[in-house]
Amino acid sequence: MPGVGKTVLARALARAAGCEFSRLQCTADLLPADVTGTNIWDQREAEFRFRPGPVFANLILVDEVNRASPKTQSALLECMEEHQVTVDGTTHPLPAPFMVIATQNPIEHEGTFPLPEAQLDRFALRLSMGYPAPAVEAQMLCDLADKDPIAEVPVVASPAEIEAASREVARVHVAAGLAEYVVGVLSATRADPRCALGASPRSGLGLIRAAKAIALIEGRDYVVPDDIKRIAVMALAHRIVLGTEAQIRSTDAVDVVADALEATRVP
Ligand SMILES: Nc1ncnc2c1ncn2[C@@H]1O[C@H](COP(=O)(O)OP(=O)(O)O)[C@@H](O)[C@H]1O
Ligand SMILES: [Mg+2]
Repeated sequence: MPGVGKTVLARALARAAGCEFSRLQCTADLLPADVTGTNIWDQREAEFRFRPGPVFANLILVDEVNRASPKTQSALLECMEEHQVTVDGTTHPLPAPFMVIATQNPIEHEGTFPLPEAQLDRFALRLSMGYPAPAVEAQMLCDLADKDPIAEVPVVASPAEIEAASREVARVHVAAGLAEYVVGVLSATRADPRCALGASPRSGLGLIRAAKAIALIEGRDYVVPDDIKRIAVMALAHRIVLGTEAQIRSTDAVDVVADALEATRVP
């Protein structure tokens, strides 16, 4: 939904992490070069000079990604996949850490290009920003009526610390039984008659990585089944393709994942 704090959340996250932030508003006429950057002629130096696009930041908020043309979407997703931009044969590495938050508004007018499944699969997690609880919303109206909420956010990390933390995540241990548990959950989505396409092996990798991050945040160097349960819907639901009948009945892929968790024996 518009106006529920998505932009403010992304800016707050970037500020707290001490990261450089950039925002890209998608429209149908946005070109790939508007995302990646382009070579421009420098008259004084008599040479082409690369002018980096908005993708050159630590945290990029891509607003309304489904308004961009498929060509522009795929340019963006290529940056995400390769962590670099190639323009006229020259490769420019993107900053590290590099993270993309994309938004998609559910209230749709004409002229949108929904991301194909293969591209949705590039996103690690999906979450839906609902409306806040009434008491929280009332508090927010009092707190934020006349100040900038971002200015209040303390800077608690730096890009180098974020990088170090993600190296630390890689060292978190996953027992063989837990990997089998994840495969059980993935298989249950594949066997679900409501799905045209269940969760891929890549989504299983995404789920394990996210669970490892949760374990580290909780101060453990090993994953427990609860870490997987907590993040499974966010890591898997957006990568599942429902069958036509399920779509007509407005089944939610969130329910498919919840049922798969329910049906899989916890090690
Ligand atoms: N849950 C929330 N928490 C804090 N601020 C919020 C929240 N929802 C809305 N706001 C405020 O409402 C305004 C619009 O939020 P914004 O992040 O631009 O919405 P969106 O990007 O979802 O359309 C901002 O000034 C923001 O501070
Ligand atoms: Mg916004």
